[in-house]
Amino acid sequence: METIEELKVHYNWTEEDEENLRRVAWIGEKYKEEFVEEFYRHLENFPDASKYLSSKEIRDRHKEKIKRWFASFFTSKYDAQYLKGLYRVGEVHFKIGLPPHYVQASMNFVRSYLMNIINKEMGTSAETNRILISINKALDINLDVMINSFREEELRLYHAMGKYQKILIENVKRISWFFDFFIVFTLAVVGVFLIVWIIYEIWLILTGVLPLERGGLSVLGSILILYAISELLSEEIKHIKGSALSLKVFVGVALAAVIRKVLILSLSPEKVQELITLSLVILALGVVFWLIYRVESKL
Ligand code: HEM
Repeated sequence: METIEELKVHYNWTEEDEENLRRVAWIGEKYKEEFVEEFYRHLENFPDASKYLSSKEIRDRHKEKIKRWFASFFTSKYDAQYLKGLYRVGEVHFKIGLPPHYVQASMNFVRSYLMNIINKEMGTSAETNRILISINKALDINLDVMINSFREEELRLYHAMGKYQKILIENVKRISWFFDFFIVFTLAVVGVFLIVWIIYEIWLILTGVLPLERGGLSVLGSILILYAISELLSEEIKHIKGSALSLKVFVGVALAAVIRKVLILSLSPEKVQELITLSLVILALGVVFWLIYRVESKL
C-alpha cells in the first residue's frame, strides 16, 4: 500500500486542503444525523444490502460508525493513523464479503450529498470551489485506501496458498469457463433452431396444413419455450459476469414446458385427467417459483 506521503503527492494534497476541510467541519456535526439517514436510504438501492446489514444491532453499530467517519472526514489530520483507520474499514468490508462496487457506488452518493449541502450552505463562490476540490480529493483518498485494502487482502490470501492449490484453482477456473462457454453456445443454437421451427409452424398454418386453432396454440407454446431459453441465456451471462445463479429460472423453464403441454392438450377434451394432473403440476411449480422468488429477493 502507498504511504501517506506518497498519497499526498499523488493527490496533490496540501496543508491548504486540510485547512479547507476544517473550515467546513461544522457541516460534519450539523448534518451527521441527516447524512446517516440519507446514506441508509441510498443503501436500499442494493437489493442484498440486508445480507450484510442483517440485524438491527449491526445496522445501529454501522450507523454509529458511519456517523463518526463522516464527522472525522472534516476534522482528521490526514496522517498515517488516519490511513490505518481507513485501511481497517476496507478490511472489515472484505471480511464480510461486501462487493467493492457497493463501496464505490456509496462514495459517489457521499460526493453528491456533500456537493448539494456545500452549495446550499455556501452558495457558489471561489472559496466554495476550493472547498469542493479539497472534499473531492479527500473522498478519492478515502476510496483509494478502502478499495486498496480489499485488493491487498485478496492478494494476501492468494499468496498464502500453496503452489498446487494455485494450479488447481487456475485449472478449475479454465474448465468452468469452458462449461459456461458450451452452455451459452448450446442455448444460442437451440434458440436459433426454435426460431426456425416457429417460422415453419407459421408456414404450415398459412398453407393450411395445420388448422389455425391447433397451429396458433402450437406457435404460442414454442414462443414460451423460446422465452424460457432467452431467460436461461441471460441468467447464464449474468453468472459468467459473477452473479449467483438464480434457481427460479430453472423452475420458470419447467413451467414454460408444462404450460406448452397444457396448451396442446387443451385441444383434446377427452384428455381431462391428464389436463387436471398437469394443472396440479403447474400449481406446485408456481408455488415453488414464488417461494424461491421470496427467498432470493431477501438475500
Ligand atoms: C462510503 C461507503 C462506506 C463507508 C465509509 C463505510 C464505513 C464503515 C466503517 C467506518 C465501518 C467500521 C469498521 C470497523 O469496525 O473498524 C464499517 C463496517 C461495516 N460496513 Fe461499511 N461503509 C461503507 C459502505 C458500506 C456498505 C455499502 C455496506 C453494506 C451494504 C456496508 C456494511 C458494513 C458492515 C456490515 C460493517 C460491519 C459492521 C459491524 O458489524 O460492526 N458498508 N463500514
